[in-house]
Amino acid sequence: MHKLVLIRHGESTWNLENRFTGWTDVPLTDTGVAQAREAGRLLKAAGYEFDVAYTSVLKRAIWTLWHCLDTMERTWLPVVKDWRLNERHYGALQGLNKADMAKQYGDQQVLIWRRSYDTPPPVLDAADPRGQRQDPRYAKLAPEQVPLTECLKDTVARVLPFWNEELAPAIKSGQRLVIAAHGNSIRALVKYLDGISDADIVGLNIPNGIPLVYELDDELKPIRSYYLGDPEAAAKAAAAVANQGKKA
Ligand code: 3PG
Repeated sequence: MHKLVLIRHGESTWNLENRFTGWTDVPLTDTGVAQAREAGRLLKAAGYEFDVAYTSVLKRAIWTLWHCLDTMERTWLPVVKDWRLNERHYGALQGLNKADMAKQYGDQQVLIWRRSYDTPPPVLDAADPRGQRQDPRYAKLAPEQVPLTECLKDTVARVLPFWNEELAPAIKSGQRLVIAAHGNSIRALVKYLDGISDADIVGLNIPNGIPLVYELDDELKPIRSYYLGDPEAAAKAAAAVANQGKKA
């Protein structure tokens, strides 16, 4: 049996301001740091050990991982950072307030932008300064690999090759992995692991900073999965994420 731990980053400044973030590189709030440290405390108390850690190239996930590992006294672990674990690109919505958009376009439209499997948010203009095509961290990618918007299906299309090429072989070889990532890159992984349908994935929300444990068989099929800590608190936090896209 293998154990895989997924952690969505702690609260970011734009989570606090309720703004669509995507590939915008915003920091953690003090609450976000505390959530990451609490995740480390829970993992340490339950006796978790890891061989390698993975994260995105966005600082809210990188710092979440660091604070978590620091609390576990495991900052010496190897860390792999890969853009394919980045948040879903939120296109022209990046920077805009989620509740304001719901007031303007309605809760249903915002739900489609946030949670539908295959309807992407409006495309960001390639010349828009909010885009990432000039960002040196993506210099090795072809310009068209740096998205101007993504639906979850697009995110699955980059997360899944990373799973198949790197994460799954590492787990199968016996390495114990912790992955600090984002709401929608984790939704992409969970959709794949649990075989959730395109329709049902709309209802899945990932709370900030709570370790999500997968127990996997030798074929990496889930035996069970659960949040560490208080399950009611995790369910409440997931419901709060769902409500971020509603008129205040
Ligand atoms: C963002 O990118 O805005 C959030 O981190 C995830 O947002 P969502 O829950 O609205 O998809």
